[in-house]
Amino acid sequence: MYKITIAIDGYSSTGKSTIAKQLAKSLGYKYVDSGAMYRAVTLYAMENGFISESHFNVNDFVLELDKIKLDFEFNEALEFSEIILNNENVEKQIRTLEVSSFVSQVSAIAEVRYQLVKLQHEMGKNKGIVMDGRDIGTVVFPDAELKIFLNASAEVRAQRRFDELISRGDAITFEDVLRNVNERDYIDSHREESPLTKAEDAIEIDTTHLSLQEQYDKIFQLVNMTLEDYE
Ligand code: DC
Repeated sequence: MYKITIAIDGYSSTGKSTIAKQLAKSLGYKYVDSGAMYRAVTLYAMENGFISESHFNVNDFVLELDKIKLDFEFNEALEFSEIILNNENVEKQIRTLEVSSFVSQVSAIAEVRYQLVKLQHEMGKNKGIVMDGRDIGTVVFPDAELKIFLNASAEVRAQRRFDELISRGDAITFEDVLRNVNERDYIDSHREESPLTKAEDAIEIDTTHLSLQEQYDKIFQLVNMTLEDYE
């Protein structure tokens, strides 16, 4: 059966990764969370002293990029590939609000994007992949057979992220999460390098009033229609 490339882009906390994971599982495709890659690079910058509250030493950090090795390792129990940074599983550490507050700055750096896009191309060279992010349909896989662009109101997205962080035991407030969502929206869509925009041929879905199941059903229908075109 012909395998396609599925690009899922959109604003943060629109449900991209949950949907992408489920899709990959039902299709038997590879799933890649490109946001996890930007988050892991950010964690490296934080842990190695390039980022402090008041300063980000971009010039020195960029010189160290070749020391960062990223892999994904399939977790059988969770049925999900977790990110490995220089041989350490950092899946949990990359999801904190602290990493979220610096990741947009790190992902605006041209050299970082160049390295990660190169890796993403390699991961998708045999198709049969679902990748989610901000520039997958525009930059990484402009020829993807199916491109989805997800959106939802900032309040609903912040509530989803807040619930997720609270369920993991993080001590945060809804206001902090909402501020972070708004800041990231702004930086992600105004940066010079590969800003978050909808690819012309992407199908936009507003998930504000949709349950996860409704989102999934809608997108799975689009997948089936696309696959039929290639049969
Ligand atoms: O999907 P996420 O919220 O985990 O992504 C974290 C950040 O990484 C997001 O604020 C922007 C950046 N990102 C990006 O610039 N390009 C991608 N393809 C994926 C994520």
